[in-house]
Amino acid sequence: MARRRRILLGVSGGIAAYKALELVRLATAAGHAVRVVQTPASQRFIGAASFAALTGAPVLVDEFERDPARGAFPGDPQPDHDPLSHLELAANADIYVIAPASANTVAKLAAGLADNLLTSAALAATCPLLVAPAMNNHMWAHPATQDNVALLRARGVTVLEPPTGRLASTGEQGAGRLPEPRALLEAVEALTRPPLAAPSADLVGLRVLVTAGGTREPIDAVRFVGNRSSGRMGFALAAAAADLGAAVTVVAANVALPRDPRVAYVDVETAAELQDACAAAFGEADVLLMAAAVADFRPAASLAGKLKKAGEERLRVELERTPDILTGLAAVRRPDQTLVGFAAEHGDGALAYAREKLAHKGLDAIVVNDVARADIGFDAVHNEVTILTAGGETHVARASKAHVARAVLDVVAGLREPTAEAAGPAS
Ligand code: C5P
Repeated sequence: MARRRRILLGVSGGIAAYKALELVRLATAAGHAVRVVQTPASQRFIGAASFAALTGAPVLVDEFERDPARGAFPGDPQPDHDPLSHLELAANADIYVIAPASANTVAKLAAGLADNLLTSAALAATCPLLVAPAMNNHMWAHPATQDNVALLRARGVTVLEPPTGRLASTGEQGAGRLPEPRALLEAVEALTRPPLAAPSADLVGLRVLVTAGGTREPIDAVRFVGNRSSGRMGFALAAAAADLGAAVTVVAANVALPRDPRVAYVDVETAAELQDACAAAFGEADVLLMAAAVADFRPAASLAGKLKKAGEERLRVELERTPDILTGLAAVRRPDQTLVGFAAEHGDGALAYAREKLAHKGLDAIVVNDVARADIGFDAVHNEVTILTAGGETHVARASKAHVARAVLDVVAGLREPTAEAAGPAS
């Protein structure tokens, strides 16, 4: 069973409040202790009795209401005094999750308002704050909401990207849904997991762009030239960057893995689509982690229909070079951006060859793995890499891709630290 967490759940007004009930059910079934605070508006959608029954604890709405459990989480001893509920609940929580967070609640959190128990507890909380917005797609896209979200993220709050899909109001489609309860619980557990190593890197406030997976280049309407990349390394990098507080976008080329609700995804198939998606997002990014296996060659022409095999003994498919996307981005980079490439190399001379690549592609770091080995790299759960920078070399022994991802981000954080020289003389 997962390590027990004390989860304070703030429910604000919105039709998605029903999913908060399922989150509570899953969280308590996983052994976590949950307390719920609700905004008055949320009670129009789900009543306190439902949350109280599932958590086995009183639900609070009013700041001035006495908490019969005295701020304790289920399973914990109650103090012998009567503490202030918004302070005590926040102080005892391992994480404060606000799901669903309405546009109004997101705005209040950004402004630092404390006009109800949910918002007061958010100001008082020193634990990680996880906000899962859910609203109409136009409200989500509104610059006011987007500015509020950016402000919260810059302060280190984890704001989940609402998935795109059918919305509550009839016929509405777009971004604004609450992530599924299982994905919310995964985000809660990820945010409260002890770090793999001593926390040496911090990416709070940075925008990290990751490419993941492998491109597919069409031969005809149903066939393609592809590669064996699963996207595991790229997704592990994205999760590790989100753990460290970054706002993460993944350009995912044909990746069938589960999605992280903290990450925004752009799905692509071909190198050309990956190039367009990167060009659109690169200007905004502080860090680029180019982990995708991009095809070096693609069919020079692809057939609109399906290739016929009748009468053919041999088939010639002419391939043409694809542009090197990373080199193209490096050519237009700003000096404050950090660019990391990945190199799959074979055996002897791999490091020397990769070091050459580091220089001629104009990168800050290159992560080298030896594809001659079957137990690491492509489509494997583990990896073993060497991270090269202009000034150094870090070898990461065979470990989970999550561990390797963390090591890569430690190097990135180190590269972004101002050097003593750049920071000027100490006074
Ligand atoms: O030169 P090589 O293909 O080994 O370089 C690998 C790095 O370059 C990876 O980071 C990969 O994502 C990137 N790449 C690219 N465009 C290509 C081929 C590779 O951006 N067409």
